[in-house]
Amino acid sequence: MINTIEWKDDIVRMIDQTVLPEREVYIECTDYNQVADAIRTMIIRGAPAIGVAAAMGIALGTMASQADNIQNFSQDFDEVCRVIGETRPTAVNLFWAIGQMRAIIQKYNSLPINQLKDKLKQRALEIREQDIAINRNIGQHGRQFIKDGDCILTHCNAGALATAGYGTALGVVRAAHEAGKRLSVLADETRPFLQGARLTAWELMHDGIDVTLITDNMAGYFMQQGKVNLVVVGADRIAGNGDVANKIGTYSVAVLAKEHNIPFYVAAPVSTLDLSLSSGDEIPIEQRTSDEVTHVQGKSIAPKGVKAAHPAFDVTPARYVTAIITERGVARPAYVDSLKALAGEDIN
Ligand code: MRU
Repeated sequence: MINTIEWKDDIVRMIDQTVLPEREVYIECTDYNQVADAIRTMIIRGAPAIGVAAAMGIALGTMASQADNIQNFSQDFDEVCRVIGETRPTAVNLFWAIGQMRAIIQKYNSLPINQLKDKLKQRALEIREQDIAINRNIGQHGRQFIKDGDCILTHCNAGALATAGYGTALGVVRAAHEAGKRLSVLADETRPFLQGARLTAWELMHDGIDVTLITDNMAGYFMQQGKVNLVVVGADRIAGNGDVANKIGTYSVAVLAKEHNIPFYVAAPVSTLDLSLSSGDEIPIEQRTSDEVTHVQGKSIAPKGVKAAHPAFDVTPARYVTAIITERGVARPAYVDSLKALAGEDIN
């Protein structure tokens, strides 16, 4: 199994996703600032994986605190959360994880500081373990949508590398594959960061799942040819009305799918729901450096000095989404009610 992120001897170890697939390199973080840098620079990326990294970063940061009373310890905790919280704005799992760690401080604030540090570490490790179990459940709920012989189109990487393991969208694919269904995947390369080409193709090949890489502008061609049976993607944040923020280009795929009567599924854990937002218009969209557009793997592909834009995510309106697959079951339109029912008490 691909080991995206783990805690070992009080070190956070993660696979460096910026150099895959050419090199399989692991980086080790001993300090929370290194974890924050790893999230910011996309050494680790994908909403659930960012959440796990944030929790582990907070555990590392608070372990190093010299505070000997709860007031000073809480101040150190707040500073660590501030740094981690400023790394990437769109994936709500980051803020969910900060909330989970804050709840530990609140619950155990009367414990001696050393025991409180242990509780924070335990919660971070638990978030990692739970994420893998959650993804397996997403797979179980989602595999019904894949029929024997289907071809699934996916965008970006919502796989083991984007989570603690197994994946959300690719978890659905894996569960169907494990159930013995014959299937194939069309992976959008996902310009500009190439998560589809570098990561999705790599991890599906690693598992022996039939994958064909296409450039983003080929999706319509394959749909028109009748080659795509369904689309499954992940999500970075889902608003209360079912609008879905995911990697830039997801919206275009959803519009194409609707035109061709192809079902469009979103697979995500409940921690990706942000029911505090009534629509996707309120989701903050990360703007990344234009260098990622003008350069590919460090090589310039555009005239020097050209302006380039780089919104890293877009919002797919709920009307394009056939269903949202979570670990607790499948939400269908109207999402305002179905998502609320799935979230229960755990509302972001
Ligand atoms: O910029 P990234 O690579 O972090 O974006 C990742 C995505 O958009 C994924 O599809 C999403 O986080 C879901 S991952 C299970």
